Amino acid sequence: MDQSTSELRARLRAARHVVVLSGAGMSAESGVPTFRDAQTGLWARFRPEDLATPEAYERQPDLVWNWYAWRRELVGRAEPHAGHVALVELERVVARVTIVTQNVDGLHQRAGSTHVLELHGNILRTVCSECRRKVERWTGDSVPPRCPHCQGPLRPDVVWFGESLPQGAWLSAQQAVAEADVMLVVGTSGLVEPAASLPRLARRYDIFAAEINLAPTPFTPSASLFLSGAAGDILPSLCDP
Ligand code: OAD
Repeated sequence: MDQSTSELRARLRAARHVVVLSGAGMSAESGVPTFRDAQTGLWARFRPEDLATPEAYERQPDLVWNWYAWRRELVGRAEPHAGHVALVELERVVARVTIVTQNVDGLHQRAGSTHVLELHGNILRTVCSECRRKVERWTGDSVPPRCPHCQGPLRPDVVWFGESLPQGAWLSAQQAVAEADVMLVVGTSGLVEPAASLPRLARRYDIFAAEINLAPTPFTPSASLFLSGAAGDILPSLCDP
């Protein structure tokens, strides 16, 4: 084991509260595509302004609904990998583990992590774009389907560009960072605000913030430690007993 890995292992074992910020790279090994990887990222093949904004949904609700339905299917077929499981194991050695995720796939929860804050919503949930109620069932085959309460068009319960983060999750995430002694920043390019501000906030509080990624990011120069590699390889080497 290299020196950085053993240093981080020791810090994790001495910590009382670990906060993990995860991004799409965390789910890549489960078969869920990232957004910005050059060949395989979704934003290399699709334009976010056509698919992931409220204006896009107003213009072409059927296109947007169908694109999310396709992604929901991908997510439905995905299984958590060894890295997700390692973060569950971490709960045995650290009193408090808070996962703050930008991912909308629910894989941390499916693996068994108990405290997960979803900053960008969850693609497996559906809400009414008008009355905002969460909807589990609907009838008829219109695309998008209609809300059983108010007939408004349904949409995925995810955050689109230009929309605010769910306030409760965002406030809890900031609070968790303020109270943490170690932060792990896993598989995120750090290009989307405000999530990207959390690792910077940790460093401002002088919290040890380690980054795990296949490649350096804009946060890397400020990271306390950088481990280069895949989440599914590195997290087990850090968290396994
Ligand atoms: P990105 O696609 O921007 O970045 C993925 C990061 O994961 C990159 O830095 C990759 O180098 C890294 N990566 C890829 N595979 C990895 C692996 N196996 N192990 C470790 N790292 C790996 O994804 P996010 O940073 O999550 O927002 O993107 C942030 C937000 O932008 C998303 O939540 C989404 C998107 O638009 C919304 O939809 C609101």
